[in-house]
Amino acid sequence: MIDFDKSVVIPFEEAFKCTCHIEGWSQRAEHHWLYNAASHVVSGGLWIEIGVWKGRSMIPTICGLPSGATFLGIDPHQDSLSAKAHEELNWKSDWVHRQFRSSLDLARELRPDVSVQHLRMKSRDAAQLLGNGVADAVFIDGAHDAASVQSDVLLYNLILRPDALLCGHDVGNGGVSQGLREAKISYKKAGAGSIWVRT
Ligand SMILES: C[S@@+](CC[C@H](N)C(=O)[O-])C[C@H]1O[C@@H](n2cnc3c(N)ncnc32)[C@H](O)[C@@H]1O
Repeated sequence: MIDFDKSVVIPFEEAFKCTCHIEGWSQRAEHHWLYNAASHVVSGGLWIEIGVWKGRSMIPTICGLPSGATFLGIDPHQDSLSAKAHEELNWKSDWVHRQFRSSLDLARELRPDVSVQHLRMKSRDAAQLLGNGVADAVFIDGAHDAASVQSDVLLYNLILRPDALLCGHDVGNGGVSQGLREAKISYKKAGAGSIWVRT
């Protein structure tokens, strides 16, 4: 049961400490940017992250959101290795999803006043379940090939409210910059690591 009346404030440093044990590529400056950007979402607003992997960038975002907001992470968490390769490496199947589930538990424990949701599916399929103009921010960090980035930008631009925040990760990646060019949006570096933001 989410207690929307009890606003919880997690200072950035505390939020950052909570990410130290979670593997991932996002860095401190990027976490700080996400935390601040999330704090500008209205209470009752919706933040979507496409591509959550183990939940490293998700934690500072959720900590920054206002009470009563919703965070929706979208990721199919498909194993990239075959069952045989898993066996040879002695890795448990579904290992990324298992680790993501612990991050999900941590996020819900930290912010009982935020609704934290996950759709285990590809962004294209999740887009079919969401209405147009419902989201306040979308952070794109899913598949990094140009066609996927272009598709995420175009599909999720419709899901965003007009002039809402559209941003993503890995602007220096060739597939990401090509996808952004092909989607024909204007964007700039956010000034925090490799985050890009629509202008
Ligand atoms: C770079 S990782 C995300 C890292 C995460 N944002 C962080 O900083 O901790 C990319 C993720 O995108 C996911 N992904 C790949 N294709 C996707 C798709 N079509 N829709 C949603 N997620 C996808 C992968 O499963 C992977 O977990």
